Amino acid sequence: MAGGRHGRYGIDAPFVPALLGGLGFALLVLALVTLLTGGASPGWPLAAVVWELVVGGYLLASAASYVFTALRGRYAVWAELAEGLWLRGSDRVLDMGCGRGAVLLLVAGRLRSGRAVGLDLWAGTDPSGSADATRANAVAEGVSDRVDLCTGDMTAMPFADGEFDVVVSSLAIHTIPSPEGRAAAVAEAVRVLRPGGRLALVDFRHVRDYETLLAGHGVTGLRRRGLGPRFWYGGPWVAATVVTGTKPAAPLGSHGCDRRVESIIHGGGGSAGPRT
Ligand SMILES: C[S@@+](CC[C@H](N)C(=O)[O-])C[C@H]1O[C@@H](n2cnc3c(N)ncnc32)[C@H](O)[C@@H]1O
Repeated sequence: MAGGRHGRYGIDAPFVPALLGGLGFALLVLALVTLLTGGASPGWPLAAVVWELVVGGYLLASAASYVFTALRGRYAVWAELAEGLWLRGSDRVLDMGCGRGAVLLLVAGRLRSGRAVGLDLWAGTDPSGSADATRANAVAEGVSDRVDLCTGDMTAMPFADGEFDVVVSSLAIHTIPSPEGRAAAVAEAVRVLRPGGRLALVDFRHVRDYETLLAGHGVTGLRRRGLGPRFWYGGPWVAATVVTGTKPAAPLGSHGCDRRVESIIHGGGGSAGPRT
């Protein structure tokens, strides 16, 4: 259980905090040894102790930040982002590159009749390599009745245009190595979103590019902002940023609301189609 959650979501690249913490601890021990053995000689031993204390403490704090974000902080931040997506409970939500479902299942917990669809290649290494692990997490979180998992590539998704009310993605698009691939993923996010649908893309890198691409696809209300220390993996140099926006509603004349307006104006009796 992590951050009040029941699934097993793991820590991305666990060797990173292990290395940072190990080095930090070793430097603090070295500072103690330097103090005990070199304290008698003036000059450099004191400078060495200060250096070891500062760098050791810094590395330990970095490791602590990484572990805190992985186990708690990111869930707290995503809970707030989910609030901002105005979920109605009946939405169809897509998580692109869902991995073990850290975000997918959090969102699924806010749905009643809606569906949370997780798309992933399931080809990575720990902690995101298996749909079975995500399925088990959905069961552990008590949301398996509203979750669908789909194997696919986010640069060419197996979904119809406008199929989703909300599209989210967390720390996934940057793993696509080429700018063309990332651009394709952002284009796909917009394509599968219904007119009026909302999206929230969180990543460490390239978020400014996502914003530019989204603007080029006509997404409105774009807002990009840093997510703060709760989403730092080790420090501000690996800080997550979110870009949010809304796909514009369909142009006038393309849906039933306009037919109803026309029918009122012209006194016709035609029924209105579904609102978008
Ligand atoms: C760092 S993990 C993040 C997982 C999850 N979103 C989270 O926040 O814990 C990145 C995920 O993106 C997936 N991924 C990478 N490229 C993909 C692609 N082209 N299509 C679908 N999924 C992809 C990987 O398999 C991996 O599960």
